Amino acid sequence: MLHDNLTINSQGHLEFAGVDTTELARTYGTPLYLMDENRIRARMRLYRDAMKKYFGGESGPLLASKAFCCKAIYRIAAEEGIRTDLVSGGELYTASAAGFPLERAYFHGNNKTDADIRQAMDAGVGHFVVDNAEELQAVSACAVQRGQTQNILLRLTPGIDPHTHAAITTGKVDSKFGTAIETGQAAELVRVALRMPGIRLVGFHCHIGSQIFDVIPFCDAATIMLRFMAQMRQEGYEAQVLNLGGGFGVRYIEEHPVIDYEAAIAQLAAHIRNTCAELKMPMPTVLMEPGRSIVADAGLTLYTVGSVKTITGYKSYVSIDGGMTDNPRYALYQSDYTVLLANKASLPADFRATIAGRCCESGDLIQEDVLLQKPVRGDLLAVLVTGAYNYSMALNYNRVPRPPVVMIRDGKPYVAVRRESYADLTHLDE
Ligand code: LLP
Repeated sequence: MLHDNLTINSQGHLEFAGVDTTELARTYGTPLYLMDENRIRARMRLYRDAMKKYFGGESGPLLASKAFCCKAIYRIAAEEGIRTDLVSGGELYTASAAGFPLERAYFHGNNKTDADIRQAMDAGVGHFVVDNAEELQAVSACAVQRGQTQNILLRLTPGIDPHTHAAITTGKVDSKFGTAIETGQAAELVRVALRMPGIRLVGFHCHIGSQIFDVIPFCDAATIMLRFMAQMRQEGYEAQVLNLGGGFGVRYIEEHPVIDYEAAIAQLAAHIRNTCAELKMPMPTVLMEPGRSIVADAGLTLYTVGSVKTITGYKSYVSIDGGMTDNPRYALYQSDYTVLLANKASLPADFRATIAGRCCESGDLIQEDVLLQKPVRGDLLAVLVTGAYNYSMALNYNRVPRPPVVMIRDGKPYVAVRRESYADLTHLDE
């Protein structure tokens, strides 16, 4: 199977995190998001321990909570002693409601409103990642007004194109995120930041993109950032922190490689150490912001099969009781997924199908032209590796309620997010 938290039991049922998925579907209904808490914790520990080992000092991961955001994940991150990033007032509110220690949070976003800035300062968020000159001004003004000093990183664009999907590339010079090194604007921003009251510049941030399998683009980004840090050092400013963002890929289908995250971190650390030696500068504290690689393969979605329709001479559509509303990633990025019938997992997958959701939208598809066990109405369809950017990107188009999130810890399921009801859907309607 694709990952070691997936097995097939003697009844031919798919098991996830040691639990029979057909039983979970019976207990909680479908569509249903499942999350493997043990795996989430294992990945957090892997990043935490490997980054400490190879980068040293205070280096470590921040959970990129946009990949999967609810109170439970912040509680888990807090218990595992890792930091988090936040990109909106809503994520900040959720982290705060979960009791996450916000001095360990980094507040991102390319357009923080004045209200966002105040909310984050009220909550005691440890660091802001400032995107641009205007925002720098706004953060400084807010801090001065409150008589405090706010720690910040500046988000820079190193000009790297890691050849991932265009919509999830973010480190290029032409980007809505960050301030460009290449144009000289980043250096100017640093000079301005150092003169500005109410802020303490602790270092720099970049993020090159997502679903990247190769460590080389990260090394290239690090080189550019370190050279920039060396240049600033010559001007008299020594940055302590280098945050390299998130982006390591995850195996969604058999054809994707297996990534050894610890080996990748070790390779990146060796590269950074060597580059610092060449530039004759001390090793900074290194932060990373993994999202997908912490939660993606800790997730799975279960659906009930409805209509199975073969259009003579064309193809077969298998419709499920969810779709783009709980997983918009195929509609947005043509993302690859592995699908199978969880109640017939040991049968041969020889039925070619397109998996369709139930929105009034032809593009509401989960996968096209995949091989599946022969389906009938009532079968249970599993889409694997849905832990990242599924629940967090779910929507209510056609007033479809969002599925619940059931976490499994040590073989025991519990509801982390309850199923949205129709009453929840009309809750805000006057
Ligand atoms: N840090 C920053 C500043 C980011 O913008 C992102 C992702 C991350 C960290 C986490 O990256 P990860 O480790 O998860 O690759 N919705 C898209 C992905 C968008 C990623 C946006 N930023 C998808 O479903 O593929």
